[in-house]
Amino acid sequence: LTPKDLKGLKLLVSAGPTREYLDPVRYLSNPSSGRMGYAVAEAARDRGAEVVLVSGPTALPAPWGVEVVRVESALEMREAILGRYSWAQAVVMAAAVADYRPAEVSREKEPKVAAEKVLRLLPNPDILKELGENKGSRVLVGFAMETGEGLARAKEKLLRKNLDLIVLNWVNREGVGFGSFENEVVLLLRDGRVLELPRMPKRQVADRILDLVKEFWKG
Ligand code: C5P
Repeated sequence: LTPKDLKGLKLLVSAGPTREYLDPVRYLSNPSSGRMGYAVAEAARDRGAEVVLVSGPTALPAPWGVEVVRVESALEMREAILGRYSWAQAVVMAAAVADYRPAEVSREKEPKVAAEKVLRLLPNPDILKELGENKGSRVLVGFAMETGEGLARAKEKLLRKNLDLIVLNWVNREGVGFGSFENEVVLLLRDGRVLELPRMPKRQVADRILDLVKEFWKG
């Protein structure tokens, strides 16, 4: 039996990719499966937390006992998250939010032209950074997906976005990360601790993340 050690915690989780539509049938996105965020939501629910899951489009079934808010674009995800922020005591931002959206969105399907096409993109707002600017006593957890110089970049994000914890994933490792069932992550904490976890199922990674959320939440 799982101990209900997160009873009383109001947790907001984001998961999955976002879709940035060009026209009604075309969009920019990424290969996020949503599994890491769903694992966090399910693990937290099992440990007694009250969970709201803001999910981009995924193939995953809605977890029982969790309020699921479905969104598509980064702007919709921002609305859904900011709308729940005053309620939340902790936020785990596992969504792979698209950094850009098309500057022009066509209401009709764009005809194909036999020529080169230039796409103008606008930067999407950084949702997590906004949360960090209005953090209060909340616990904030972000993810960073990096190649090469990941550790330094993740640390920079932890500080710049005012987080308690950032979960560093490696993009280019076989069998982990995007779309996989397992993950191999490094946890970088606000107090300088760096915890390198071995490869393990995403559900176990979720529990390790929640152990730290609990530590920060209890102060
Ligand atoms: O800066 P970068 O995109 O690598 O940061 C990743 C973290 O920031 C993730 O937790 C992601 O959910 C969040 N993020 C966000 N809004 C964006 C881009 C990323 O909240 N527009």
